[in-house]
Amino acid sequence: MTNNISIASYPNIRMRRNRKSDWSRRLVKENQISVNDLILPIFVTDSEKKTAITSMPGVNRIPINEVVGIVHEAKELGIPAIALFPETNNSLKDENGSEALNEENIVCNATRLIKDNIKGIGIITDVALDPYTSHGHDGIIKNNEILNDETLSILCKQAIIQTKAGSDIIAPSDMMDGRVQAIRTELDKNGYKNTQIMSYAAKYASCFYGPFRNAIGSEKNLSSKSKKSYQMDFSNSDEALREVGLDISEGADMVMVKPGMPYLDIIYRIKTTFKMPTYAYQVSGEYAMIMSAVKNGYIDKDKAIIESLTCFKRAGANGILSYFAIEAAKIINKG
Ligand code: PBG
Repeated sequence: MTNNISIASYPNIRMRRNRKSDWSRRLVKENQISVNDLILPIFVTDSEKKTAITSMPGVNRIPINEVVGIVHEAKELGIPAIALFPETNNSLKDENGSEALNEENIVCNATRLIKDNIKGIGIITDVALDPYTSHGHDGIIKNNEILNDETLSILCKQAIIQTKAGSDIIAPSDMMDGRVQAIRTELDKNGYKNTQIMSYAAKYASCFYGPFRNAIGSEKNLSSKSKKSYQMDFSNSDEALREVGLDISEGADMVMVKPGMPYLDIIYRIKTTFKMPTYAYQVSGEYAMIMSAVKNGYIDKDKAIIESLTCFKRAGANGILSYFAIEAAKIINKG
């Protein structure tokens, strides 16, 4: 329609007029990434030294005594929230992921430390069992089946101990059915009615999580097994709307789509349909792809960061979890 009008109206209409100078381009700009849109994921480890994640150049697993420094930097840059992910020592992993319920586990310890030292930045913690299970799945298993309802009761306890430690936003990333409602009920019962829930509402079974699994050490444990019996099929889009609708009705305050860049259509549909605070996760594999191209000199790093993040905004995301958050904030603040 619009196209027809402009084609018919040339040369009266010239789209290039608005683009001809920098000031004019700024004037007609529709979407802009701001530091307020950024969430920084942080890998915490209980080893003494920080270790590099080979597939994610520039991202490290951070020992607990260095976490506060990074969160402080994020806060100073204006980043509103961070998200914690643990690399759990293999010796602590078991079939039921019991370390998830240890109030002294690495995520709880890091959360307490951050809470005690830094005010004014949100702490998001992931609820799922995969960093803690010997098999690398997000739920508990019996006869090769990932058990839904039995997993829910563990996730609820995990959410409570994380909240007790100081987590502001509980982010269930497990994709069990009914977990948002179960967690909401449990939080309220324990007096945490103001704790927010950001649900990984449309989470796809994706190869783009590969580097993350390496980062948290679940890659070998999971080996060739797939998460397709609980995470979504990447061929589907209507199903994402059902998933998100359910999570909203169960009490999610914010919803997330994951992965990010190959799923912009999903973000757009979800934002348009539900008009909820909607987040995108620019996942580890997306980070790895961009960094590989940067390392080879094929694309410009800063430009790739800003373009990819702005495109999430254009698709309708309110914010983006990105391993580039610190660098993006620096670029944005430079202006
Ligand atoms: C765990 C979880 C995963 C990610 C976030 N939480 C991996 C998975 O589901 O296997 C992926 C994040 C990334 O790839 O950056 N449930």
